[in-house]
Amino acid sequence: MEGLSSGSPVSVLPAPRKMSVGNDVYLLPPDAGVRGPAEVVSLARQLLGLAGTGPGVDLELVDDAQLGSEGYRLAVSRDGVRASAVTVDGLRWAVQTLRQLLTDGALPHLTIVDRPQHAWRGCLLDVARWYHPLPFLYRFVDLLATYKLNTLHLHLTDDQGWRFEVHRYPRLTEVGGFRAGSSSGHLREGRVDATPHGGFYRQSELAGLVAYAAERGVRIMPEIDAPGHMQAAVAAYPELGNLPERQLSVRRQWGISPHVLNTADATLAFLGHVLDELVEVFPFEYVHVGGDEVPVTEWANSPAALRRVAAEGLPGPGHLHSWWTGRLATHLKRHGRRAGAWDDVLDSETSTDVTVFAWRDAGRVAQAMRAGHQVVAAPSEYTYFDFAEADDDRYPAIGAGLPLEKVYGYRPPDGVLGVQSQLWTEYMPTTPIIEWRALPRLTAISEVGWCSAERDLDDFRRRVADHSSWWDRLGLSYRPR
Ligand code: ACM
Repeated sequence: MEGLSSGSPVSVLPAPRKMSVGNDVYLLPPDAGVRGPAEVVSLARQLLGLAGTGPGVDLELVDDAQLGSEGYRLAVSRDGVRASAVTVDGLRWAVQTLRQLLTDGALPHLTIVDRPQHAWRGCLLDVARWYHPLPFLYRFVDLLATYKLNTLHLHLTDDQGWRFEVHRYPRLTEVGGFRAGSSSGHLREGRVDATPHGGFYRQSELAGLVAYAAERGVRIMPEIDAPGHMQAAVAAYPELGNLPERQLSVRRQWGISPHVLNTADATLAFLGHVLDELVEVFPFEYVHVGGDEVPVTEWANSPAALRRVAAEGLPGPGHLHSWWTGRLATHLKRHGRRAGAWDDVLDSETSTDVTVFAWRDAGRVAQAMRAGHQVVAAPSEYTYFDFAEADDDRYPAIGAGLPLEKVYGYRPPDGVLGVQSQLWTEYMPTTPIIEWRALPRLTAISEVGWCSAERDLDDFRRRVADHSSWWDRLGLSYRPR
């Protein structure tokens, strides 16, 4: 977001690993510019507001094993500003740190040696339950990059909407991208309104977003959620469902649809074609294939599904769930990609090639690790930002009880690939509500992912307060402390 370059908060979030600050300041000369690798110079100029051509900020690539792939060193002295890193990503994070420190053209004298604890620091954004406009996705990427979160998990499809344009199957968005109404009030009240809602992203739009994010060090992992959470797709193409003669509509109410994909070869081929187009748009190694909350009833009642169970030698129809995930993972592997899936796939046999996103609770994080999977820790009790901080919240939410301090206190076990927060948007129809749910808790997940387990809550709170006055100036919505 353009606005994020104005002003600055002075304190650094996430906290650098080692930082010593002197008493003096360095005043950037009026003609100060940025020198360094082309991939990062224009971003640095923009974020630091340095349009000049003279000396100012020097960015350099160095060989320094201590820094790892995302770490950096920063030195500000009377001689100027020098950032060094092994990779361009490290230089990008150095620039984000500088941007937070820069006020009125001055930087404090300091030295920083910094590197992240975890390689995967992410946030899921659900654009299926509500379509959110593309410019917001750009701003959201900016917010992630500001806090050195390197992964946007984009939940593109669900029962209530299909948002990814697929050239081969236009009805996925023409039909699946729109619904006739939405849950009104809390799901448990059982009310549904009659206000149409919908939208989708063209592949060219998403490719632009991917490029923008890449320039900021943010990878985008798309999710096509299968074989459950597929009602929008089945509404568009009834032959994907277990009763092909039945015409479903895109689901209006939240909750889990009982209507799942069938197990026909043609349906596997269909999803394969969807993934073929998806990987062209999203170059990131990881593609998420969902795999959460798959009701088994339709399969248990389907002679065709039961024939599939017998043909594959599966113990029962419940195992079609991870059978589906396995087939999608194999397809992705042919593209040189790695599949991610929700931890529900642990309930039946799943290849350890699949990276597990352990969401149900911290116990699932441990279980997935014991089973030999690469694991992204996303336990709901610490990372589900669709739960409000407290009951007295401004906006309706699915539930409450996830205050900033609880997020901050999460300690993922050693050996996880990383950690991510989740913004499921059933109760976030507009973007200010997303910001309100994200801030300030996104800064806590940022420190959980970036910093070591030795963290100082009081110091964190002080820095969050400092950043909230920055968010005020930027016009971001957030829950005040
Ligand atoms: C999930 O919350 N169903 C992954």
